[in-house]
Amino acid sequence: MKTVKIGLLGIGNVGSGAFQIISLNAASIAKSSGRNIIAAGVLARDKNKKRDIDINPDIITDDPDEILKNPEIDIIVEALGGIEPATTFMLSAMKNGKHVVTANKAAVAANYDKLTSAAAENGVQFKFEASVGGGIPILNAIDTVLRGNEFTEIMGIVNGTTNYILTKMTEEKLPYDVALKNAQELGFAEADPTADVEGIDVANKLTILIALAFGQYIKPEDIPTTGISKITASDIEEAAAKGCKIKLIAHAKMNCTGGADCEGCTGNGKLEYSVKPMLLPNDHPLAGVSNEFNAVFVTGNAVGELMFYGRGAGALPTGSAVVGDIIEIAKTIK
Ligand code: NDP
Ligand code: HSE
Repeated sequence: MKTVKIGLLGIGNVGSGAFQIISLNAASIAKSSGRNIIAAGVLARDKNKKRDIDINPDIITDDPDEILKNPEIDIIVEALGGIEPATTFMLSAMKNGKHVVTANKAAVAANYDKLTSAAAENGVQFKFEASVGGGIPILNAIDTVLRGNEFTEIMGIVNGTTNYILTKMTEEKLPYDVALKNAQELGFAEADPTADVEGIDVANKLTILIALAFGQYIKPEDIPTTGISKITASDIEEAAAKGCKIKLIAHAKMNCTGGADCEGCTGNGKLEYSVKPMLLPNDHPLAGVSNEFNAVFVTGNAVGELMFYGRGAGALPTGSAVVGDIIEIAKTIK
């Protein structure tokens, strides 16, 4: 059976989740894909740090070139976080003929065109399913089985940390700071949680969703964005009194193009988008999405409305999406 070697850039929450899945499910992955997938090298900032996973310390390095230039490695998995040096490492890997899988929405959203063009120019695959919705296979669905649709709307909860905070503030009356600390300890939050609580992470994910569904690149910084850092316990109580919950919602909608059956909409055929906390009635399907779970509604002109639901953050759910991308690529390596 063919062995496919991967190099992991980062062995934190996501990197270790992917590493564990590859070890734990090695036999079933080999059986279904016809490939033995092994981690041949791991980049970390501190190669001597004690890790919670069972990993051979000899494969951990703090020198990126040992991974990026290793001729035996076919696939690079980027799980460092941040725009740089992650983007430079991914571009370098592609130039060296390696396929790239990433969970890094900040880097994908900031450099979408550069990364997708570099992959095409170098004849390698670039996959980033884990960058939106953690374990939910939303990007793959939009890009494959739903490709026959013209998409009209996307609306959802795509940040686990903020949904966890809002849920704990609502259901357990936890103070904001305590709920945020818990989300960090559970491995949901970004290294700098400002990106989560100010909605920046959601804007990054909306940029990626819009690029795939609507074929437009909207910079995350051009998406009107409000986070949850100013939501107070009394805002949540007021919402509850009205039979509502507060949720941080990503929304993109293609306005009608003003055809013959148009009934008074703006008719400008323009895409509108935002990230903001919204008051949802308790019986709205998104109001029932709790803790680190995410959910996304996608509306296509053929399929109608679909809802995707699952764990949007955490080591194993996110690792599941990363490993799915690795396997899809590995199957194509002869
Ligand atoms: P962590 O902070 O847990 O892990 C980052 C890892 O990268 C660590 O192993 C760290 O080394 C290493 N690292 C960071 N910078 C460097 C560098 N400059 N050189 C060498 N090694 C470096 O992050 P996460 O695993 O939580 O997140 C990784 C990526 O996945 C991010 O882009 C995040 O947005 C994304 N993501 C995270 C999810 C989650 O639930 N946490 C879900 C979906 C996506 P060391 O261990 O030595 O510190
Ligand atoms: N910090 C992110 C979140 C990780 O909480 O949703 C998953 O993308």
